[in-house]
Amino acid sequence: MAWALLGFGLFLALYTLLRHGLRRTPPPRARPALHGRTAIVTGGSGGIGAATALELARCGARVILATRSALRGEAAACRIRTETGNPEVQFMQLDLSSLKSVRAFASTFLRQEPHLHLLINNAGVSAGGMTEDGFSLPFQVNHLGHFLLTQLLLERLQSCAPSRIVIVASSAHCAGRLRLGALGRPPPGLWSTFQDYCDSKLANVLHARELATRLQGTQVTCYAVHPGFVNTELFRHAPLWLKPFLIPLAWLFFCDAAEGARTSLHCATYEGLECFSGRYFTDCHLQEPWPPARDDRLALALWEASERLVGLREPEGNPSPDPAAVVQ
Ligand SMILES: NC(=O)c1ccc[n+]([C@@H]2O[C@H](COP(=O)([O-])OP(=O)(O)OC[C@H]3O[C@@H](n4cnc5c(N)ncnc54)[C@H](OP(=O)(O)O)[C@@H]3O)[C@@H](O)[C@H]2O)c1
Repeated sequence: MAWALLGFGLFLALYTLLRHGLRRTPPPRARPALHGRTAIVTGGSGGIGAATALELARCGARVILATRSALRGEAAACRIRTETGNPEVQFMQLDLSSLKSVRAFASTFLRQEPHLHLLINNAGVSAGGMTEDGFSLPFQVNHLGHFLLTQLLLERLQSCAPSRIVIVASSAHCAGRLRLGALGRPPPGLWSTFQDYCDSKLANVLHARELATRLQGTQVTCYAVHPGFVNTELFRHAPLWLKPFLIPLAWLFFCDAAEGARTSLHCATYEGLECFSGRYFTDCHLQEPWPPARDDRLALALWEASERLVGLREPEGNPSPDPAAVVQ
């Protein structure tokens, strides 16, 4: 009995040490009041997005949770309203795996909401599959859908400037390889889904880079972030054989969603970051991304290809009139 108690005690001590000692993140910074500011958080129904939305609401912002599931979106909005006492937290339906849904969301938002100061492109998926538009699921949800959404909302962001766009990327961009001739098609090979995810995250960092160049002088700035390794539902589609390794690893070493939201919140609200527009942040600090993510020619080529894929540019390369004209 004594041995069993001692063993249990040792186990508890080890658990506490590992769980609280090994995962150190900087303490949260004081955030400015955001009364009168409107924010969109994509994927705000759970994980890092919900934690980001909660904190923005706590600071007084009007927050639109752009989520694909009405049930999860309403539930998250209700929870955030109750927890913060801020009644201005709403849900609006957005499925990033459908370009039609992105256009419908933008159209409804622009009709209903006069202001937009913060766009947090957070939603992400690490599963394989194809979308109704014929693109690989992670590439469309993580990059193309957000690319179109940003273009459709850009005028509103500009008219409400100073305003900011935060693109939640990942350190996984380091393994990304963009094949411009086959953009949006799943990469070949055994690790296709993982590669696809990494490619989409490289696209996120390049998107922020090119967007910042195009937004110079507008007072709209943008940032790519790596949220850290966060214990969320992102890996719910991981193969069964991987889960026994992933779950304890995530539980011991990954941070929680509130900690994972800190870099997005930092880039969305911290004063004086304007001169770092287009750059990549992790742990609330500026960091150099991997070399392909600093390639300006690749960023431009990705931009033009993305415009073509979402229908904002003619296939031959003639820019189409105005993104707003494509909103239905
Ligand atoms: N967790 C990490 O360690 C980690 C590391 C690096 C980067 N990130 C990035 O952080 C971001 C947030 O991920 P997370 O960890 O919080 O994962 P999560 O818990 O799985 O949350 C992802 C969110 O994206 C939404 N989403 C998925 N597909 C969508 C679609 N088609 N349309 C609209 N929304 C969709 C989900 O909505 P549903 O509730 O409907 O599924 C959910 O709200 C992602 O961009 C991810 O790549 C995460």
